[in-house]
Amino acid sequence: MATRLPAANSAYCSAVKNPDAPPPMTARSRGCGRSLMAPSWPCRVALESTKLTIHLAGWDRHFQSLRTVNHLESEFVFALCNPGSEKALKLEADALALGWRLSYQHRGFVTFKADAPFSLDALTAPLACARRLCLSLGKAPTREEAQQRLDAAALIHYARYFERKMQGLPCAESPQMGQLIGTVVELGPTEFWAGLHRHAPFLSPDPAGDAGLVMPLESPSRAWLKLEEALRFFALALTPADVVVELGCAPGGVVLALLQRGISTIGVDPAKMADVVLASAIAKRAEAPTHKPWFFHCRKPAALASKRDLGPGVTWFMSDMNQSPEVVLKECARFCKMAPAIRGVLITLKLTDLLQIEDKPQWLATLTDIGFTTLRLQQLSVHHKELALLALKL
Ligand SMILES: C[S@@+](CC[C@H](N)C(=O)[O-])C[C@H]1O[C@@H](n2cnc3c(N)ncnc32)[C@H](O)[C@@H]1O
Repeated sequence: MATRLPAANSAYCSAVKNPDAPPPMTARSRGCGRSLMAPSWPCRVALESTKLTIHLAGWDRHFQSLRTVNHLESEFVFALCNPGSEKALKLEADALALGWRLSYQHRGFVTFKADAPFSLDALTAPLACARRLCLSLGKAPTREEAQQRLDAAALIHYARYFERKMQGLPCAESPQMGQLIGTVVELGPTEFWAGLHRHAPFLSPDPAGDAGLVMPLESPSRAWLKLEEALRFFALALTPADVVVELGCAPGGVVLALLQRGISTIGVDPAKMADVVLASAIAKRAEAPTHKPWFFHCRKPAALASKRDLGPGVTWFMSDMNQSPEVVLKECARFCKMAPAIRGVLITLKLTDLLQIEDKPQWLATLTDIGFTTLRLQQLSVHHKELALLALKL
């Protein structure tokens, strides 16, 4: 099962009723922000029920006293992303013709501005490279000042750019659907940003979309982390009743994670599997036991796997093959035809360049053609030039 970083947890995660909760972060990053149009107090808060609009400049106290905020607007949004993914993120925003313009950029952090103010609805823009998208409440010189702007939030998350990563600080409390979450982002010793988003399905429950998972020593590959992070990010409910087929399964990090969850797996890969998963291997698909999770190694290239290799009852298609998105999606369509009970797809797309994200509409169209209705493309914190592609029949 997923292992979370040892905590300090709850100290880093506070309800706003306890503004003193976050301890000072001792290790600070060296700020390297490039200010294009650094905003200050760009936010307008409107309380819908009374049609009251408060422009924040000079109205800090009013904002702090608001407990029920139904509608929020800001001139800016910010995105937290994997350092190195900023360019692909901007490309995505351009491709969607959102009218968002780059405003300010730091590694792992990008703010956008548009002609009209942003509302919380703007945060549903499907930007795969954004691990977290927030209405920006602006920059502050201290964590406390940034935190004070988040009085409307039910829960505050903390994130920081540290050791060349955009890290979320572990939070013991899980957000509820619909809850307003504040995020304080530390980019440097005197650079803190405050943002708000509403928790919703398929959004990471973790600060900065960073699950902070630790791979178990027995895992033969980092793929264990990729699977566990995807399951957590999207809140996917796979159960021991599911049977997974994974293309590109060797040496077996994903298979190990699935077996640990009690889920049986057919792995397709000509390469050798690690002993830790071979301990659960069965020699023939037809001999699968019913009382314990099993692993069947179909030791051949994906293109040669047949309906007979899959057997009955496959409910999930996964792929971690080192192949182009086009090859993987072609195999996905073929496997979904061979196993019509497949209800979910989770693919780690391997890109040679993240800017290939321009091809996203074609990838999604292939999955729609197969019959999937809910699609998500998401870069996870454990990814490099990779993306998680999720498709569900809901
Ligand atoms: C990154 S590794 C997969 C890691 C694996 N998922 C795990 O959990 O440890 C990529 C794998 O894709 C496999 N692969 C590449 N092309 C393939 C193909 N056409 N059919 C099946 N496997 C393939 C390689 O043999 C390699 O083992």
